[in-house]
Amino acid sequence: MTPVEDGQVSTAYERYLQTDRLLSLQRSGELVHPDEMIFLVVQQSSELWLKLLTHELESAVVSTRTGSTLSAIRHLRRAHSCLGHLIGQLDVLDHIPPWSYQHIRTQLEDGSGFSSPGWSATRKVARLLGTEFFALLSRRGVSLREIYVHHSRFEDLYQLTEGLVDLDSDCMLWRTRHLKVIERTIGAEAIGLAGTSIEVMAKLTTRQFYPDLWRIRSQLTDEAGKRLTSPGLVPRQQQG
Ligand code: HEM
Repeated sequence: MTPVEDGQVSTAYERYLQTDRLLSLQRSGELVHPDEMIFLVVQQSSELWLKLLTHELESAVVSTRTGSTLSAIRHLRRAHSCLGHLIGQLDVLDHIPPWSYQHIRTQLEDGSGFSSPGWSATRKVARLLGTEFFALLSRRGVSLREIYVHHSRFEDLYQLTEGLVDLDSDCMLWRTRHLKVIERTIGAEAIGLAGTSIEVMAKLTTRQFYPDLWRIRSQLTDEAGKRLTSPGLVPRQQQG
């Protein structure tokens, strides 16, 4: 235990985690509305989860670059868990009444989520991971089609590819859940503090980091459909 200024003592736990600094960041004495605490805690903890998410994705980039696919898969699994928390904690914002949020909103001035350092870093590293992934496929001389058709033969690459699909899917789910929060608090016809219409936010929910990984599914369905209708390859139930 170490003495601190106000005569109290800090424990090793408090010193290591810097709980004093961390818990003063919510400015408890200066809230414009009691519900501002919900907003601050969810928003600040989201930045922390985004920090960990970015950290894991950076490790996945290095692993992919060096061909350590199992390690890249492990980091992507962690990333998936982080995004689960990011999506899940948006539920808490549903408890802010719309009128309370109007008080809280004034504190943001013209600030908006587009300035989120965590989200910008996530998007940047997710794109870089895609570049490293496709470079790895060309080094290994394997196509996406081969990975999906012969998934057992390319088990590590298959799992890595699906890890990227999880990441892409999770980010779209986060954006979709966040859109529902916006609609619930400021309404579907409002304009954001950065001047963004909710229509634009809705369009962003379908934005993909890895469109090829979604397109391949349609291509496989087309390919399978063509096989089924080719002479000599009639589906079993139509034979005889
Ligand atoms: C009541 C809660 C929230 C409301 C009403 C809200 C509202 C908005 C709006 C209107 C925008 C569009 C930009 C603008 O014009 O302002 C936006 C963007 C954004 N917000 Fe929020 N937001 C909320 C909570 C959060 C939380 C908890 C996070 C977590 C980090 C967050 C992160 C973002 C990000 C990253 C963007 C950019 C989105 C993208 O690139 O698709 N927001 N938000």
